[in-house]
Amino acid sequence: LSSIEVDISKIQPGQGIKTSWRKQPVFIKQLTPQEVQAANDVSVSELRDPQSLADRTKPGKSQWLVTLGVCTHLGCVPLGIGEGETKGDFGGYFCPCHGSHYDTAARIRKGPAPTNLAVPDYEFASDTVVRIG
Ligand code: FES
Repeated sequence: LSSIEVDISKIQPGQGIKTSWRKQPVFIKQLTPQEVQAANDVSVSELRDPQSLADRTKPGKSQWLVTLGVCTHLGCVPLGIGEGETKGDFGGYFCPCHGSHYDTAARIRKGPAPTNLAVPDYEFASDTVVRIG
């Protein structure tokens, strides 16, 4: 079976978890209202990989950001999920390998990575369970 179900009921706003799917790290984060606002305040057309937060989340669930934890430069695991980890200059994720900064919607904003952190196929099995794959 290639899909996994993840309980998200304990993830508070501003927190996230790492899981894995098909041997790749996956980040599931609940954005704070401020992080949602910051993502929506960006002019999408100015982005290297132009996507809105709505493009990257499910309708009515824009606070839930599900991405692969794989830097799109050369595949390191970015920081920004764990307690005390740096979130980079744009408040999302930071890849320490060569300095890629991702914003609160995990979109590339600075550094060598060409594209946003990838969003895997997923759905909400319920309000508290995400099914990935
Ligand atoms: Fe992330 Fe190079 S692998 S910046």
